Formats: sequence, C-alpha cells, structure tokens
Amino acid sequence: MPRVAVIGAGTMGHGIAELFAMAGYEVHLTDISQEILDKALKSIEESLKKVKERGLLKEDVSAVLSRIKPFVNDVCGAVGGVELVVEAVVEDIEVKKRVFAEADRCAPPEAVLATNTSSLPITEIAEAVRPDRRPKVVGMHFFNPPVLMPLVEIVKGKYTNDETVKKVVDYTKKLGKEPVVVNKDVPGFIVNRILARLNDSACWLVARGLATPEAVDAVAMYKVGLPMGVFLLLDFVGIDVACFVAEAMRKRGFGGGPCPVIAEKCQQKKYGVKTGEGFYKYPAPGKFTRPNIPKELSDKLNPVVLFAPAVNEAAYLLREGVATREDIDKAVKLGLNWPKGPLELADEMGIDTVVKALEEWTSMGFKELAPDPLLLQLAKEGKLGRKTGEGFYKYAKSVVTAVTETLEKLYGEPIKQLESLITATGVPVYRDPRSGALLWVDVREMRLRFTLSVNKLEKFVEGLQRGRLMYTQCRRCGAKYFPPQVDCPKCKTSDVEWRETSTEGELITWTVINVKPASFSHHSDYVVGIVKMPDGFNVTAWIDADPKALKPGMKVRLVVDRRPGENYITYWFKPA
Ligand SMILES: NC(=O)c1ccc[n+]([C@@H]2O[C@H](COP(=O)([O-])OP(=O)(O)OC[C@H]3O[C@@H](n4cnc5c(N)ncnc54)[C@H](O)[C@@H]3O)[C@@H](O)[C@H]2O)c1
Repeated sequence: MPRVAVIGAGTMGHGIAELFAMAGYEVHLTDISQEILDKALKSIEESLKKVKERGLLKEDVSAVLSRIKPFVNDVCGAVGGVELVVEAVVEDIEVKKRVFAEADRCAPPEAVLATNTSSLPITEIAEAVRPDRRPKVVGMHFFNPPVLMPLVEIVKGKYTNDETVKKVVDYTKKLGKEPVVVNKDVPGFIVNRILARLNDSACWLVARGLATPEAVDAVAMYKVGLPMGVFLLLDFVGIDVACFVAEAMRKRGFGGGPCPVIAEKCQQKKYGVKTGEGFYKYPAPGKFTRPNIPKELSDKLNPVVLFAPAVNEAAYLLREGVATREDIDKAVKLGLNWPKGPLELADEMGIDTVVKALEEWTSMGFKELAPDPLLLQLAKEGKLGRKTGEGFYKYAKSVVTAVTETLEKLYGEPIKQLESLITATGVPVYRDPRSGALLWVDVREMRLRFTLSVNKLEKFVEGLQRGRLMYTQCRRCGAKYFPPQVDCPKCKTSDVEWRETSTEGELITWTVINVKPASFSHHSDYVVGIVKMPDGFNVTAWIDADPKALKPGMKVRLVVDRRPGENYITYWFKPA
C-alpha cells in the first residue's frame, strides 16, 4: 500500500490525512500529544461517517480509519518508508524548519516533502533540508476544510524541480482535488493575494467613509455573485486569521499598510462568528446566522471600484508568470467560490473601466494600486474585454455586435446601444431600440427569429432577477408553457397566468455542442439539455457540466448569472 505521512493533526492536518486515507493510502499521522491525535482521529471518524451517509464512500468507515496510524511526537518514525510527507504544523517558520530537517533525516531519499503553509516562503523552508533534497520540497496548499474544498495550490520554491511538481499534481488528482500550479514562491500564492486585495479595498472604502460594510457586502453578493460578502466572509473565517495571514504577507513585502477597520476588530478581539461579534453580531459565540444585508444597498457602491485592486493583482500574477490566466481564474473560483475569476470579471467590467478605478485608487494615495502594465497595454491595444471581443480572453463576435449589425442593415442607420435583457436557451433577447419590442435571436443563424411585445416577457425577466424561473399557464385549458412560448397556441389566447417553478428539475436528455459560449468557463464542451420540471413541463437550457458526468434522471439546479453593471441575465442548469 502506498504510504504518506501527515505532520500536524490540527484543523488542516486531520482533514488532509482523511483525504489520503480515503484515496487508499496508508497514512502516518503525527502530532505532539496523544490527546491531539485522539481528537483528530475522532474528527476524522465523524467526517467519514458523513461522507458515507452521502453515499460518497464505498468502503466501511472502519476500513478507511484503519489505514491511519498515529505517531505521538515522532516525526522521524512517521516518515519512515513514505513516498510523500505533508507538513501541516503551526504557521511558524522555526517550527516548520525543525520539522523539515527531521523529516529529511528520516524519510526515504526519494520522498517528496510538501508544506501546507499559507504564507511562509517555500524556499526558506527548503533551506532547512540537505541540498540534494531541496528539489523535492514543494508547497501543497489545501483549503479549509480540505475534505470539502476542491482546490490545491501547488507552489514551486526556488529549488523545486518539475518532477516534484508533476508528482504532487498527480497526488492532488488522486485525492479528487483540482491542482493549480503556482510557478513562483510569492507571498500568499494566488488565492490569498487576491483575497487580501479585496479585503483591503473593502476595508479602505469603509475606513475612508466611502461605503459601509453592509454596502460592500451587498455589492459583492448581489452585483458580482459572491456567495458571501467580504466582511461576512471575514467574520465567518475569523478576522484574527485574516490579520495573521495579512501580517505575514506584509512582512514579505506584499501590499500597503494595515487597514485600520480590520486591524481594530483584531485589537478588540472581535474576531467574528467565533467570538459572537465581528463586523456583524451573532446570537452566541460560534453560532452562525446570516445577517440581513439588504439588496438595495448594492446600488451604493460601484463594484468595479471594489474589485479593481483584486483584478490588478491577478494581472500582476499573470504578467509575472506566476500562473496561467486559466489557473488564476480557476484558483479564485474554486478557492473562494467566486462565480467568475478576476480576469473574467475584468473582461466583463471592461479593462478601461478597471484602469480608471485603479487610477482613482492611486489618486487617493494608494500607490501600490497603480494599474498593472498588462492592464495598460490591453487598454492601449483596445482589448477592453467582452465588449470589444477580446481582453484577457478572446470572445467570439459578440451576439450584441451581430444583432446590432443586423438591425443597422434593416434600418439603414447606426444603432447606438442595444439593450440586452436575457439569454435563454441560447436564444438572446434584445430590446429593439426603435419599436421597443423584444427580439429573440437565433444564434446559429444570427437571424432575428420573432418578436414579442415587451410586457409579455417582463414577468419572466423579473423572475430571473429574483433567481426564479417563471412559466405561463393557460387560464382556459390549463396547459403550461415555457418562454419563448408564452401564449396558448391551442386556445389562441394570451389569457395566461405567470407562475413560478422550482429551481430544481430532472435531466431527461442532452446533446453536446462543440461551440462553447463565453460564459462557460469550466468545460470545453457545451451541453444543451432538456430538463423536466416538477410542474409538468420541460425546459431546454444549457447544462454547465462535464458531459461525462451526466446521467439521465439526475437532478439539476438552476443557476442565474447576473452580470455586474449590465442589464443582462443568463440562466442555465448544473448538477444539483
Ligand atoms: N486553517 C486554515 O484555514 C488553513 C488553510 C490553509 C493552510 N493552512 C496552514 O496549515 C498549517 C496548519 O494550520 P492549522 O490551521 O491546521 O493549525 P492548527 O493549529 O489547527 O494545527 C497545527 C497542529 O500542528 C501541531 N504541531 C505543532 N508543532 C508540531 C511538531 N513539531 N510536530 C508535529 N505536530 C506539531 C500542533 O499541535 C497542532 O495540532 C499552517 O501552516 C497554516 O498556515 C491553514
């Protein structure tokens, strides 16, 4: 049986040990006391039971547990005969160096030594081992909780060789996780750097009296689609953790000075959910309830100003060759649950708009937020993102452009700006600037197919804005229809009632089309499927999933995508 060692059985270590055990490895788990190890094994057992209940574990819980062998305060014993060591001890460079020196002394010469550090230099840790082992020292940065979070950042230090990176990429895949390779040992790697920029911009907007924490969170959630607002996430994870990581990164030259609004909370020991109060108040320490963050507040702040510093950081990482653009976006989507990566967001917001926001930050005195040369270059070349067909990514000629051109031909005069409303089933809808009617467009043929009067679809658009799918039911015969069919063709009537349908349905069948719409970042294939809704009608829609993972009858869930700053909504389904 392949064997690995996990050193440190705390928050991260026990989760990492569980993952390797589930993947079939014998795991040597070590920590400084029997008590800590007992607690870790108990937590692993509880977690495994949950995994089993969800049907994600074929083996018995006891079989997986039996592969984890505790070693009390014995790094040397634990690393005997292993092919990989993952260190997850406290975030203290001296402790880590001691552990690495010991692991180096006792582990087989070919073993890879990985550290789960969030903020310390991989290169410095590598210097604690003998020179011939240094190429085998690498960062393997899991996210909390490791069992649930899909991302692992694999970080190359100065000495790390490609073979080691390849091995750790393979281990990561065997654990069922998504690897992202970080080519340079920069403080905070990808995810924590981008998060730190967002935390800082949020914090300074509040510190300067330009926004309230609630407004920042409303913008982040309702305009950009983050699952949690910036301050809410700080409360959730622990403001003390954020201060600690930010300070460690600052020591290594990252970012500007500490922002007083977050620093104050740390000094007051108002760490968030764990202490019962942070930026929001909670019923009791450790008890999380979602605070009420009114959606209306999202109009109080320009999302581009809030996100531009994070985009700037992503541009820097790309220009410096720290990671590819796809990996930067993937890391942020998987590590922070953003619906889009920072480079994708930049393309949507417009590179010129982002540059302007960064210039505003610079003029407020934040010199480190001067627009990155890569952003300036894109702006200069007119690569402004989606609206020009190219930014960080290339986009097919946009449907807006195609429809504008068609209308211009039709009317024989230029059209200023076309108002796009929704895209449904690959059928984009625009408002005809002349007649006010809604135009449905056949994307394949770029042909205006048919028009509907505006008010007939407003309920549908309104529903999507609330994250709901609406359908019509004929008041006479009771038949149900899904847009673009709105009226009842049987009764030839528009006497129909709008109703809300469930956000979950059952996939009946699907087909794979090899033309991917730009909004589908995850998969190379573009799937269109028929989804049976519980109300008794079918919806044809995009399915955002790897086609190999689809099964007839599987449950799929509605995803509504609102574009920041644009009057544009798209929806699709993804596996529930
Ligand atoms: N908690 C997170 O969200 C998170 C996320 C990603 C990475 N990390 C990183 O993972 C590492 C561990 O963090 P954590 O949150 O699990 O910390 P933790 O405090 O929960 O666990 C650390 C464990 O290491 C043990 N330890 C200390 N010295 C040791 C030694 N010499 N030998 C063996 N064990 C020793 C401690 O007893 C403790 O159980 C840190 O480097 C941290 O930066 C943490």
